Amino acid sequence: MTEKDFLPQPYTKVVNKGSITWQAPSNIALVKYWGKKEHQIPANPSVSFTLNNCKTTTTLNYEKKKSPSQDFDFELYFEGKIKEDFKPKITTFFKRIEHYCPFLKEYHLTIKTENSFPHSSGIASSASGMSALALCVMSLEKELDPGMAEEFFNRKASFLARLGSGSACRSIKGKIVVWGKHDGIASSSDLFGVEYPGKVHEIFHNYQDTILLVDKGTKQVSSSVGHNLMHGHPFAEARFKQAHKNLEALTNVFQTGDLDDFMELVESEALTLHSMMMSSRPYFILMKPNTLEIINKIWEYRERTGMPICFTLDAGANVHVLYPEKHSEIILEFIKNELVAYCENEQYLCDRIGDGARRIEN
Ligand code: DP6
Repeated sequence: MTEKDFLPQPYTKVVNKGSITWQAPSNIALVKYWGKKEHQIPANPSVSFTLNNCKTTTTLNYEKKKSPSQDFDFELYFEGKIKEDFKPKITTFFKRIEHYCPFLKEYHLTIKTENSFPHSSGIASSASGMSALALCVMSLEKELDPGMAEEFFNRKASFLARLGSGSACRSIKGKIVVWGKHDGIASSSDLFGVEYPGKVHEIFHNYQDTILLVDKGTKQVSSSVGHNLMHGHPFAEARFKQAHKNLEALTNVFQTGDLDDFMELVESEALTLHSMMMSSRPYFILMKPNTLEIINKIWEYRERTGMPICFTLDAGANVHVLYPEKHSEIILEFIKNELVAYCENEQYLCDRIGDGARRIEN
């Protein structure tokens, strides 16, 4: 598929007024997206576990105007309160998708959004937020074009979400989602995320992710700035190649369920992501001393007990602790006794792999 496939056909219906709600999850990348080209095209393929509990719920109320306006006409409520400072991000998103959703300026929109996780948790809400909004926009488009097939709906929702925030395209459908063209995965695309099509060993079906909130403050360097620093980065080409190799290796692991290989790949990806940050110009460090304390404790515990517990990191100081459900009781005990002390206000979130976004009936 190409970008052109997402341009709409003439709409068959007129819709005046309505309300749509979607709940979309966050996701945690195993092979990381870090570096992008123009139009939100990733420099390398990535793959993520969809989360279950960390999610955004967004309601889009729409009302057709007498004539389309010059600018996008919307109000934004975050957790019940008007949020002016989120508006520029949404305006940028609408501008990027306008070509593919030309009906947007015909409506007055009210967007009401809330997260299941605390606002200042350091958990990026762009993935769940942008995917929930993209799905609402798609549901409105489907009202205008009721014949739209479900597969196309999901693909276009992911395509639009990507234009809002790259990783958001992996938060539409499926437990494991690949984004970015990879030779070994025929259905993969740079334009949208697809549910990982290969065989997945049952050990991964209910994988757990406990998120340790090490630092709840705002990041000193945003992801977009970080992505841009991959342009002209001395190790960029090697890194992009490595991501292809790691994704290929991970597809074998998904099939065999070999947790030693899984843990090695996932931790190496996390540390490589942060080493890209540390070796860019300007360089920066998003890990905190407690991030390292936790990593060392996890390694020590794994060495001592043989438990299949590993970590990954996103673009921040928080640590995602990954482990199979069958060991969750004992591992959660370890987390509570030995790791939670390193979290800000001892806060952590228990999550696990989930199925993707779902529509909520209004
Ligand atoms: C480290 O998707 O937040 O979490 O496309 O600029 O919005 P933008 O970036 P974003 O980057 C996420 C980077 C990451 C790795 C990943 O999720 O793959």
